[in-house]
Amino acid sequence: QTERSLVLVKPDGFSRGLTGEVLRRIEAKGYTLVALDVLTPTREMLAEHYAEHEGKPFYEPLVDFMSSGHVAAVVIEGNRCIEGFRALAGATDPTAALPGTIRGDLGRDWGRKVQENIVHGSDSPESAAREIAIWFPKL
Ligand code: CMP
Repeated sequence: QTERSLVLVKPDGFSRGLTGEVLRRIEAKGYTLVALDVLTPTREMLAEHYAEHEGKPFYEPLVDFMSSGHVAAVVIEGNRCIEGFRALAGATDPTAALPGTIRGDLGRDWGRKVQENIVHGSDSPESAAREIAIWFPKL
């Protein structure tokens, strides 16, 4: 049951130079990199990507934050890589994320409106397919 997941190194992670560390952990875990891009996301792309969060209090700050700089977008592949990458990433809140995870080891609360938590990973096969089509329309 090989599957693909969309991983984003968000502007906080990218600007801190953590892209290599995130890719290193993905590869060390044994997943394969299928596609890679560096770009500043448009608000239109983010509106699609975060459609399920529209209307939530953190939605506007989230789109502001995500469109504030470069991100690395990555498609990874491997059996159960969606669940596996979320385990590597750790809990959404980097303060609470366990040490050993990307967010637990490398993230913290910076006192801003949105949780800047270094990475995004798809949460289901359906979201992975939807998100990969947004970030890599040619895949
Ligand atoms: P992600 O899982 O990539 O997608 C939704 C993002 O919204 C999440 O990462 C966080 O960056 C942010 N987020 C989720 N919940 C909250 C919250 N309660 N307050 C602020 N930001 C949040």
